[in-house]
Amino acid sequence: MGKALEGVKILDFTHVQSGPTCTQLLAWFGADVIKVEKAGEGDVTRQQLRDIDGVDSLYFTMLNHNKRSITLDTKNPKGKEVLIELIKHCDVLVENFAPGALDRMGLTWEHIHKLNPRMIVASVKGFGPGPYEDCKVYENIAQCAGGSASTTGFRDGPPLVTGAQIGDSGTGLHLALGIVTALYQRMRTGRGQRVLAAMQDGVLNLARVKLRDQQRLKHGPLKEYSQYGEGIPFGEATPRAGNDSGGGQPGWILKCKGWETDPDSYIYFITQAPVWGEICDLIGKPEWKTDPDYATPNARLPRLKHIFHTIEQWTMTMTKFEVMEKCNAVDIPVGPILSMKEIAEEPSLRATGTVVEVDHPTRGKYLTVGNPIKLSDSPCEVKRSPLLGEHTEEVLSKVLGYSAAEVAEIKGSGAVTPPEKGARAEAA
Ligand code: COA
Repeated sequence: MGKALEGVKILDFTHVQSGPTCTQLLAWFGADVIKVEKAGEGDVTRQQLRDIDGVDSLYFTMLNHNKRSITLDTKNPKGKEVLIELIKHCDVLVENFAPGALDRMGLTWEHIHKLNPRMIVASVKGFGPGPYEDCKVYENIAQCAGGSASTTGFRDGPPLVTGAQIGDSGTGLHLALGIVTALYQRMRTGRGQRVLAAMQDGVLNLARVKLRDQQRLKHGPLKEYSQYGEGIPFGEATPRAGNDSGGGQPGWILKCKGWETDPDSYIYFITQAPVWGEICDLIGKPEWKTDPDYATPNARLPRLKHIFHTIEQWTMTMTKFEVMEKCNAVDIPVGPILSMKEIAEEPSLRATGTVVEVDHPTRGKYLTVGNPIKLSDSPCEVKRSPLLGEHTEEVLSKVLGYSAAEVAEIKGSGAVTPPEKGARAEAA
């Protein structure tokens, strides 16, 4: 069976997390992704957070599946020549260098467009045009600048960043959508274009409900926030709301049996209006179905804290999975707080390919997150990440068509480095 993006050639000039998540997705959809890495060093994440000496880190392996790796010193004249050939050959250049780095390599948009008018140049930057456009940005900076941190955490605590990498991986997702959209438009126009996904914009897009609430504040307190029921006045900006859902269906995280010793023995409980009667019956409060203080969603808003405290007395008598079973039987939406250990061991996630075990020549077996987007007509097989420079020779000769003598000349110039030992051993 073919793959959705078969035939699309990606010059992957990405590093760290945001860019690599984007190109990994494209590779899973079938694009040929050629990752260009600094000669001798490679993507900095190969060596960051290493758990095994001398072996590519999980940080790197989990972000670079299904790609080929070529090392290239783009500041070496011969290396630059090879890069230009790659630009002529590929459909998309994806990069997430610090602002201006591509230009400093001599690769302005105008120059690339002239070399290959069909090429799409896709970039992740920290900020879009404006006062911060020249700034370097990492994940948590984006979470802060995109409005997520100021609206995450508890009211009486400091702003909080979340463990979900909404700045890096979130922006990678945005960029991937921009790229396939530009490829689609190119089918009509024959022209490439620039695609920019700024991390601040990506985070803000994911935090848009909080900008919604910012505007609602002008017209009165946010009644869906438990702060309202607690009688605490709102300030000028959307506040941190703890575990409030803050949406149309109030929710909170509640303790379950074993919470005293298990930090993840909790459940997210949503008091969805259509199943309010079922909730009341289940927790042993049938009188709340008709009590005017509890019977309607609006009546309940000032009492959310008390309501969740009462429900918690019930959830604390069971494990999170027992609560899940009882609630789902009557259509009450709840979600167990799953630890990474539980997720890693969950058979259904293995069955769908969301969690995958991969074999690696120097690391051995490890777990990764597979493609979270499933296409019925484009199967996805997760292949291990490449060793540094593993495909340098293959790309030079088979993709770019250099003769053996030309490959030798390129190697002699110092523009590429030999592949790692592991790559040679495997190839042998
Ligand atoms: N050969 C030779 N030089 C290379 C090269 C190659 N194959 N690949 C990259 N380089 C050079 C670049 O040209 C640049 O050189 P210059 O500054 O002299 O022009 C240099 O390597 C470093 O690139 P840079 O992107 O500045 O790396 P950094 O480690 O200093 O910064 C980030 C890292 C992530 C902060 C920065 O890249 C950034 O802000 N990126 C955009 C936002 C982003 O994606 N952030 C999230 C990362 S998960």
